[in-house]
Amino acid sequence: MIKKDNILISKFIGNTPLRRCDALSTRYHTNIFIKEEFHNPGMSAKDRPALFMIKDAIAKNKIKPGGIFVEASSGNTGLGITLIAKKLGYCAKIFVSQSCSQEKIDLLTKAGAYIEICENSNGLHDFNSTQFRAQSFASDHPNAYFTNQYYNSQNIRAHYKTTGPEIWEQTEGNITHFIAGIGTGGTISGTGRFLKEQHSKIKVWGVEPRGSILSHFLQHRTLPDQTVAFDQIEGIGRNFIPGSFDAAYIDHIFQVDYQETKHIANEYYTQTGFTAGFSSAAVLASLERYRDRIPLTKTDIVVLFFPDHGSRYMSKLYNERVHHPSPLQTSDHFNF
Ligand SMILES: Cc1ncc(COP(=O)(O)O)c(C=O)c1O
Repeated sequence: MIKKDNILISKFIGNTPLRRCDALSTRYHTNIFIKEEFHNPGMSAKDRPALFMIKDAIAKNKIKPGGIFVEASSGNTGLGITLIAKKLGYCAKIFVSQSCSQEKIDLLTKAGAYIEICENSNGLHDFNSTQFRAQSFASDHPNAYFTNQYYNSQNIRAHYKTTGPEIWEQTEGNITHFIAGIGTGGTISGTGRFLKEQHSKIKVWGVEPRGSILSHFLQHRTLPDQTVAFDQIEGIGRNFIPGSFDAAYIDHIFQVDYQETKHIANEYYTQTGFTAGFSSAAVLASLERYRDRIPLTKTDIVVLFFPDHGSRYMSKLYNERVHHPSPLQTSDHFNF
């Protein structure tokens, strides 16, 4: 039974569309495509690592039927874990930080997760973090397994085995740039590795919030002397170096701030009618902020990674009053 369900779930995760965005292609004088990960069953890219981590744990007998999968998550991995666990006859306990959007908490609750809200997601060394509390819970409870996306090699592997090959095939091997936000590092490390193995000249660029330490680490291979609170852009940014962050396949990491991310999300909505997720908007903000420093040409094929959808952030990103022009007015004030 589990075997059959396993196959069924695998069939619906991944193989997401890659769509050209004309508005962005025109604006940046290049060819911009968006990898739309919100088409996954849990409506995010994190279904991919969730499936790989769960399958691996079951295959290695790390959990018995009916057991509890435990994860520390900004919400999306937690939802993937919960949906897949439930389908396979397990339950899920998810530790989220207090910055998690209400929409994601509501979704997790509806999916049947047991949720605990923690002070932060600062990593295992912080007793109040999602990671520390998740690990403690798993070690204190028999038949509970901590999938631990920050240190589980299946996280990178999921993207190496699925996201990378999909993008390579969808662009017929012509991709020149891959841009993605970085949280655990799994997406960029796995996808980046696959793409660079196909063609070492493909540029792999990451995006993180202002104050996060990954760009410093990439440049200097050391931690910064001082850390500051980083801008809260859900899903991305860290003040420790996760095990699933592999600097070897990343060319550069751009930093963006909260305000410009929010601004660009709303501008993009006005122009295209599409509500981008928080970290997806951060990728858009990086293009805008660094457009003079990023040498893109008319023949480049640039893939932006959109891990989820704006519907998860209505209360955080799209909560400003919008002036709707009369339908009789033209829309030539749109400046995208
Ligand atoms: C919305 C969103 N964007 C980006 C990321 C970062 O992806 P990764 O953890 O693979 O670096 C996450 C991770 O949870 C996420 O939920």
